[in-house]
Amino acid sequence: MATEMALIGGEVVPLAEATVSVMDLGLLRGMAVFETMRTYGGRPYALREHLARLHRGLVVLGMDPILDEAFLREGLHRCMKAGALQESRFMVLVTPGTLSGDLFGGGEPTVVLMARKLSLPDPALYEEGARVVTFEAQRTHAQVKTTNYLAGQAGVRLAAESGAHEALYVKDGCVQEGVTSNVVAVVGDEAITPDEDALPGITLKGVEQLCRQLGLKWRRDRLSVDDLKAADEVWLTSSVREVMPVTRIDDATIGDGEPGPWFQRVGPAFHCRCRDSARDDATRYGGGAGT
Ligand SMILES: Cc1ncc(COP(=O)(O)O)c(C=O)c1O
Repeated sequence: MATEMALIGGEVVPLAEATVSVMDLGLLRGMAVFETMRTYGGRPYALREHLARLHRGLVVLGMDPILDEAFLREGLHRCMKAGALQESRFMVLVTPGTLSGDLFGGGEPTVVLMARKLSLPDPALYEEGARVVTFEAQRTHAQVKTTNYLAGQAGVRLAAESGAHEALYVKDGCVQEGVTSNVVAVVGDEAITPDEDALPGITLKGVEQLCRQLGLKWRRDRLSVDDLKAADEVWLTSSVREVMPVTRIDDATIGDGEPGPWFQRVGPAFHCRCRDSARDDATRYGGGAGT
């Protein structure tokens, strides 16, 4: 049976047995950055891009870029093999290590790789479109993928109470992104995504490249809640979701209430792009599920 595994301190152990010190600065001071990526055929999609974003986060924590691609690939492979996982939601977590001396001083960084089971969203969300809610929140460091989701909690709660799939952050009347996703509006032959206070999504970047290839123009701009509700189509993007259509925001119906024509083209094409890119990764670096 497949088991979720972690690599910590050079050892691969069942995830349930992986531990860090209570003096870890990730725990004591909220100093932790992470990445979540997804495998296709046992190989990662966009590993290099995730590593680059992780390293930008480490700079914000005052740390050096300490990991490399080979370490991540090898770690993923070891964890998946040990856990007999065919696919994985693969996470990398880094903190400055345990408190040493002063308030923020770390020692040896804590690095944890986690190969978790890949559980995908309900297919009905792609067939019928997702419902999302909006909520006002003040955040800092939105561009960094930290483990701090405090501001997002209120949104997650609101979404759960409303039976919605995701909650969108709103500041000064403008939409920024979802609690765990980026947001895209399609108006005519143009896609628009919020221009600031959002995580530079790896999926978003790939979707942008694909949309441009398919002839859908792409622009970053301020996007008010009303603009979003009036769009022809709205999508969420994230590593696990890929591209997901949104058909309701709060009480408003988007377009005609069904996933739109651009989604019908971009959604499946993006899935193929991820799969092909992961296959290229396997060709270049070897391996794959069960090897
Ligand atoms: C706040 C936030 N925005 C956007 C995303 C999507 O990013 P990516 O496409 O790199 O997974 C995530 C992913 O978890 C997120 O937490």
